[in-house]
Amino acid sequence: SKYPHINKGLAGIVAFSSTKSFIDGQEGKLIYAGYNIDTLAENATFEEVCFLLWNDRLPNKAELDELNNKLQNNRDLPEAVLNYLKSTSSNAEPMSVLRTAVSMLSDFHEVEADTSKEFRINKAISITSKMPTIIAAYDRIRNGKEVVAPLSEKNTAFNFLYMLNGEEPGEQAEKTMDLCLILHAEHGMNASTFTNRTICSTESDMYSSITGAIGALKGPLHGGANQAVMNMLLDIEENDADPVEYIKERLDDKQKVMGFGHRVYKTMDPRARILRGMSDQLSRETGHEKLYEWSEAILETMKSEKGIDPNVDFFSATVYYSMGISPDLYTCIFAMSRVSGWTGHYIEQAENNRLVRPRALYVGEKDLPWVPVEER
Ligand code: CMC
Repeated sequence: SKYPHINKGLAGIVAFSSTKSFIDGQEGKLIYAGYNIDTLAENATFEEVCFLLWNDRLPNKAELDELNNKLQNNRDLPEAVLNYLKSTSSNAEPMSVLRTAVSMLSDFHEVEADTSKEFRINKAISITSKMPTIIAAYDRIRNGKEVVAPLSEKNTAFNFLYMLNGEEPGEQAEKTMDLCLILHAEHGMNASTFTNRTICSTESDMYSSITGAIGALKGPLHGGANQAVMNMLLDIEENDADPVEYIKERLDDKQKVMGFGHRVYKTMDPRARILRGMSDQLSRETGHEKLYEWSEAILETMKSEKGIDPNVDFFSATVYYSMGISPDLYTCIFAMSRVSGWTGHYIEQAENNRLVRPRALYVGEKDLPWVPVEER
């Protein structure tokens, strides 16, 4: 052919080395810094996963206590950010509000004069601890409710639900949220992590990188899929539709079904496997078993019609729904977890940097003669 090969969507291109995570797309295996996702799901807390992604090892007791303290002491938002949340328009999208609020946080933090690991980790802690506060405060403000201050001595999952609902979550809700945060924390060179590393590679600051990453996560082909999955299920319910017919019509129409397919996994996403069990249990406990049954029917249909498996966003939707969380916050929850991976990658990139600068194939015309404006 006339042109050299293009790796459209950078598929299969290895541009960085990383110790943060490993994905085996054939086997359906995911590892964070050495630890299998199933091992972490069973044993870890989100805070331990944060430490792991920032330090490439698990914390000892004293280190974990110190991290928990720092996270707890950093949850409060600057007044200007709260004022911004109060000033948003009623049709604002939560992910856009989160992106702007995180961007604003840079006004209240030192610029990147210090290149030590400790300085960078402290900045990562500050952003990670404030994102749940931003999301919860925004949701309460838009619903005309009082903003709830975080409780000290409590972890990220507890405080997020507490600040969101204005009441202490039960043990099961806290555990479920913690598990969701663990499952979304890190995932290789996905679009938002790549965006974050690209911005870091220009020697820009961590806030700029995370702001860009939130923008990348927002789209429905990436993190926005969980919200789209829930909207699909609610659409089926509203129209009293048959879920199998609904999906077949979409496929006939060459539309994508959200929550299915993955660039790397060619089998069931191991996170989807864990979330599937949670969705089953929680849906039954909260009287939403119908939504779970439809999800299973959709899964069957996608498998038989297209041979495509669900990804992390498919069952997380019904898990959050069972917890009573508004669908337009699902991608924000993804972001408040993934910030741990993004900041881990930021530090890794900054410590071994080279400017990210690929090429594009020019397919336009060349050397055209100039035509004066009156003659065009
Ligand atoms: N529904 C219907 N068809 C699909 C889907 C889907 N969800 N996913 C892939 N396909 C088709 C695709 O159209 C293509 O068909 P054809 O060869 O006829 O053109 C074929 O399967 C192969 O697709 P691919 O090259 O493997 O897809 P990709 O790697 O370019 O895209 C994807 C990956 C995630 C963007 C895509 O699967 C998709 O759009 N899924 C729906 C959105 C979604 O759930 N995103 C969440 C991704 S995972 C976690 C996250 O990042 O949030």
